[in-house]
Amino acid sequence: MKKQRILSGMRPTGDLHLGNYFGALKNWVRLQEDYECFYFIADWHALTTGYEDTSAMKENSRKIVIDWLSAGLDPNKCVMFRQSDIKEHAELHLLFSMFTPVSWLLRCPTYKDQLKQLKEKNIATYGFLGYPCLQAADILMYKANAVPVGEDQIPHLELTREIARRFNFLYGEVFTEPQPLLTEAKVLPGIDGRKMSKSYQNTILLSEQLDEVKKKVGSMITDPERIKKDDPGHPDICSVYAYKKIFNLDEIEEIEASCKAGKIGCVQCKKGLAEKLALYMQPMLERREELLKTPDIVDDILRDGAAKSREVAAATMEEVRNAMKI
Ligand code: TRP
Ligand code: SF4
Repeated sequence: MKKQRILSGMRPTGDLHLGNYFGALKNWVRLQEDYECFYFIADWHALTTGYEDTSAMKENSRKIVIDWLSAGLDPNKCVMFRQSDIKEHAELHLLFSMFTPVSWLLRCPTYKDQLKQLKEKNIATYGFLGYPCLQAADILMYKANAVPVGEDQIPHLELTREIARRFNFLYGEVFTEPQPLLTEAKVLPGIDGRKMSKSYQNTILLSEQLDEVKKKVGSMITDPERIKKDDPGHPDICSVYAYKKIFNLDEIEEIEASCKAGKIGCVQCKKGLAEKLALYMQPMLERREELLKTPDIVDDILRDGAAKSREVAAATMEEVRNAMKI
């Protein structure tokens, strides 16, 4: 049986962190074993909120590939490419924009939220409004069966399905409707207990050196009511404990009990986490070291990935132009 096809993308916004890894990338690595996977760098999408300063764009696209490889994506098992290398995405986006009602875009929750949140950035642009239309082009171009995304991207996927239906209704059956593949993502808070995010400066990077990881774990926010070592703790509100649920799972009940009973101090508890985290990150860091010895590897992978994805994109665009009588 032919493998189901998967497509997903990430915007190149700088170094990936453990939140990105547990939220999406770890899942991508798993999926490459069982699906035909296309993973791409959404550099045009990054422009929608970052069009003013584009100086780091090329470098960030290269960095994200290194992060992907260090985390275990394998160019022999999946296709990795850069959106801007495949001009067909722009053509399909343009064609979709002709019949996508503005009302569909305006009602997108991400549009409304971001507009409010990023007030200082002036993103009330044509391009930003069209973000989901470009995303639909990315997905439908490859006739992906499934798209691994987080909860926040569900409206975009619904819009993609609506665009596919509208195209098929207007011009004939060309597109498949993709299904969302919801990642059962583990939520890993940042070191200050809020959502891990570059803009909060509370991240642990995939490329973080281990002594820096140790320092960051040491500075993590724990239960604020624990002043003395034998005060009873509340693991449920402690960010160290949220990490322990992932990295020290084998001893989690013991940790919970001794925290609640005030039998373990936070310093010692953090030390245990730092050790496990270091063990977890070590192989990724070693792979990164290896990769950096062959600097051409990123260009090679992206060139190869572009060739493979362009082939699919060109075939889809043939069908699209035929259907639309262009
Ligand atoms: N919007 C996605 C995000 O911000 C990135 C993205 C762009 C994407 N095109 C896509 C994800 C196509 C999946 C499929 O995370
Ligand atoms: Fe958190 Fe561990 Fe301190 Fe309990 S002992 S509050 S789980 S760091």
